[in-house]
Amino acid sequence: MKFSPEFIEKVRDANNLVDIISQYTQLKPTGSGLMGRCPFPDHQEKTPSFSVSETKQVYHCFGCHKKGNIFTFLQNYQGMSFPEAIEYLANRASIAMPEKNSDANEYNDRQQERKKLLAKVNKLANQYFIEQLKRLPAEHPAKKYISKRGLSQEVIEAFQVGYTTPDWDGLVKFLDSKRVPIDLIEEARLAKARATGKTGYFDLFRDRLMFPILNPMGEPVAFGGRIIEQGEPKYLNSPETPVFVKGKILYGLAQTARYIRTEDQAIVVEGYMDLISLYQAGIRNVAATMGTAMTPDHGRLLKRLTKNVVVLFDGDSAGQEAAERSLPILLAADVHPKGITLPNGMDPDDFVKTNGAVALRELMAKAPDLLILILQKWMEDYRGEASQKVKLCDQLKPVLDIIPDSRLRDLYVQEAARRMGVPANWLKEAIAKQAGKLADVEKSRREVSAKIQNNPSSTKLPADVPPKTVPSEPRFILKGASKAEILLLSLALKSRANFDAFLNENIIGSVVHRGVANVLLKATDVYRQDLNKFDKLTSLLVSFVDQPELLFVTEGAGNLFDEESEKKLLKDCFKKVRDNCLREQAKKLAHDLKAEPSSEKMEQIMNIQRNRHSLNKS
Ligand code: UTP
Ligand code: MN
Repeated sequence: MKFSPEFIEKVRDANNLVDIISQYTQLKPTGSGLMGRCPFPDHQEKTPSFSVSETKQVYHCFGCHKKGNIFTFLQNYQGMSFPEAIEYLANRASIAMPEKNSDANEYNDRQQERKKLLAKVNKLANQYFIEQLKRLPAEHPAKKYISKRGLSQEVIEAFQVGYTTPDWDGLVKFLDSKRVPIDLIEEARLAKARATGKTGYFDLFRDRLMFPILNPMGEPVAFGGRIIEQGEPKYLNSPETPVFVKGKILYGLAQTARYIRTEDQAIVVEGYMDLISLYQAGIRNVAATMGTAMTPDHGRLLKRLTKNVVVLFDGDSAGQEAAERSLPILLAADVHPKGITLPNGMDPDDFVKTNGAVALRELMAKAPDLLILILQKWMEDYRGEASQKVKLCDQLKPVLDIIPDSRLRDLYVQEAARRMGVPANWLKEAIAKQAGKLADVEKSRREVSAKIQNNPSSTKLPADVPPKTVPSEPRFILKGASKAEILLLSLALKSRANFDAFLNENIIGSVVHRGVANVLLKATDVYRQDLNKFDKLTSLLVSFVDQPELLFVTEGAGNLFDEESEKKLLKDCFKKVRDNCLREQAKKLAHDLKAEPSSEKMEQIMNIQRNRHSLNKS
């Protein structure tokens, strides 16, 4: 949502920069104002040179020259976006968020209220878990496990690690004593109702080490619970809730954004323990994906902090696959991804424990571009055969097409060509040509299948048409789709909320373009089979469409619009797509009418026009 200058002013006036900064460094009055040691991690100092002016509400470091106001501080230190900083500060000062325009007002308010309550429950639960860990004697298996993993007291505190007892309802009882209603506990996914026939609720997490997942405001919104020693599942995670969308949050950012920002580099790992272990070893510019596929939202979060992203996934095959899947996502986010393959199937935690932080830093300094790393993997058995060259073209195309910066794209083409032993021009043309060629193949294949359908007896393919087995990808042709349809596709894939809205709208029948309709059908199919697959949808579809960059048309604009305007955009998009469909129908009827006049067709056309009119008025 866009905030008026007045509202921003009001929020700024209601908060004191001194209070915010005092959370991170001790400020003492001096002659001219307040001074303290610089809180930014890239500037370690013994004598204070960080000054804060209470009257001007600005900070300025005489040592490292960072300066700014309350908003830039929260953005740079906590990694909040500007709207998040506004919301955080408004909440802090108990200022109601500005009225939203649409009729959805009441609904939004209720949602907002619900989210606040969920945040409260999670906060209480977090306190409970932390307290339970503190109470344990040193010989308790959980405590022993912590020392076995080598976690220091400092990181336990920094990451607010906790513990849940094996009790069936320890947390439920605790929250009940705090008068938290059970439906809220259930909605926060911290408890479950007992099986039918029995009454009462039980804790979701039992006898596990608890890692709270914090949002950029530092509030716990979900938990990952690790089993002590061995067992299944190794980690139990909170399911998604209104305050926790896995694809939109990176673990650890609340603690590490300031390091990513100041070092201008983000290391992405997969696991809770990997992140904490690196942090403890002094490598703190890290964020973790929590074992799911990287999403465009993750890409955006990182891009906000830095363009330099190093993917440091496990050395096993699952980790390498995840790295490969993250490549188009990161390239589309317009960052410069690099990648490291850890030796002997180690994960980052194993690696720093075995070889130390210095060795990891050395590896990072030499990290190749992720695209090159993946290309090397694709070329493991490469002998320069023509068929291999073509296959590589097919693999490279979707990845290269996605890169917004044409300079980078050209350089990658040159580098890939060099490695493949083909002239750069050949590769460039081969990649450009491919789409058209395959589109033709696709077209003729469709014509053939239409013919076969119209005339089931003729099962033989005409001789001049390539048989069905020629290059089967890309399968979905987006070329020729209307702007609204491409926008619909890209928005629907952008977030789970959007995709749900798309499903609710029941609009697929109005999508005129076959390619777009088929992609959406495929996405719906995958999503319906397993809701948790949403994160993987985009990266899955990327390899199946002729112009993958179209799946990302709204991605680059990520920071331009917030949730509210995005909702509106989606709504407008639905309208436009329906309107286009009706227009096409009317056109077709008008055409038929010319050939063969009938009052029925006339009637239909008028109906359509009426529908269009009321659609556009709504
Ligand atoms: P890993 O299996 O690599 O775990 O999964 P890890 O972080 O190295 O954990 P340790 O060192 O064995 O304790 C990576 C991430 O995948 C998610 C978690 O976020 C985990 O950190 N994961 C893994 C789950 O959500 N559930 C699981 O059962 C396993
Ligand atoms: Mn591990």
